[in-house]
Amino acid sequence: MAKRDLINITDLSLEELESLLSRADDIADRPEKYSQSCKGKKLATLFYEPSTRTRLSFESAMLELGGSVIGFSDSRSSSATKGETVEDTARVVSYFADIIATRHFLEGAALAASESCDIPVINAGDGGHFHPTQTLTDLFTIHREKEKLTDFTVGIVGDLKYGRTVHSLISALLRNNNISFCLISPEELKLPGYIKREMDSAGVSWMETDSLESAMPDVDVLYMTRIQEERFSDRAEFERLRDTYVLDLPKMRLAKEDMIVLHPLPRVNEIAPEVDGDLRAKYFDQVGYGKVIRKALILSMLDGTLTTEDTKKQPSDRESFAYGHRCGNPKCIRTAEANLPQKIVRLKDGSLRCLYCDHGLE
Ligand code: NCD
Repeated sequence: MAKRDLINITDLSLEELESLLSRADDIADRPEKYSQSCKGKKLATLFYEPSTRTRLSFESAMLELGGSVIGFSDSRSSSATKGETVEDTARVVSYFADIIATRHFLEGAALAASESCDIPVINAGDGGHFHPTQTLTDLFTIHREKEKLTDFTVGIVGDLKYGRTVHSLISALLRNNNISFCLISPEELKLPGYIKREMDSAGVSWMETDSLESAMPDVDVLYMTRIQEERFSDRAEFERLRDTYVLDLPKMRLAKEDMIVLHPLPRVNEIAPEVDGDLRAKYFDQVGYGKVIRKALILSMLDGTLTTEDTKKQPSDRESFAYGHRCGNPKCIRTAEANLPQKIVRLKDGSLRCLYCDHGLE
């Protein structure tokens, strides 16, 4: 049985996603039924980057399934300080645990970890790239609150350039029917080109604006994000952009009555606390939904429910590996760890892309 990893949200087929959502529904409704489902199993959380929600959500999910948890929440207490690579650490940990959830500041780190060991690896965030379990959380929240995952307009606000939750959410929603995207950001923080190209090839309707006010009346799901301070190389630029959008009650008055507000959290200043009391504010409920969907994910990865062919290494739009090229993205794991093989693919349109970080090569 081939092991399954979750590196990118599109590693899950639509059928698998549906089965995860319905399993999560059952877990939400009857948690006691699952209280021993992972008895005797261990989750390792390998977090090289700060986290409150995601790590504790994984850990409490595993504990509520009757399993146990090991790991580190600060790479300074791991052998990373001695120069151990992500791959070696994952390989070592695979002798101690049954499943790994890992977060790293470099793009592609989870893919590198997954390819070095025989146990399932879940990407809990790799730099500014992807964050698929936040997307499962977002989708489960929309599914529970709107009772559908089709036919709506999503307004995505803030740091669309560095926001990994944004990148994964868009990749996921591109596969659902009749979703329109309204991308609200300052010029400097627009969505990366590779995701816009994916939107174009999926044929979805999308528009960009820098005005939150003008978008408010049209959106059904408003997805607020934090400006990702830690990803800026220019401090002055961050300072200039940090408070671009603040959702407050006057702006909420412009929105539909059944609109919902999501945020992966942590919020800094982009949602005024006065909005928390609005019934449309769902960002704290979202945290609870995140634990439930992670329970469904861990269980499905460990009990063999998710065993169909893993698509991440040969996705349909990637034609073939291309040799003799190097990824030039300084935030890519391949740039940091020179012993990793280059993984450059040539897409159908002739362009080259690094499989670790998805950056295009000139
Ligand atoms: C997000 C992340 O880490 O990307 N947080 C989370 O996992 N809930 C969003 C963020 O840090 O802004």
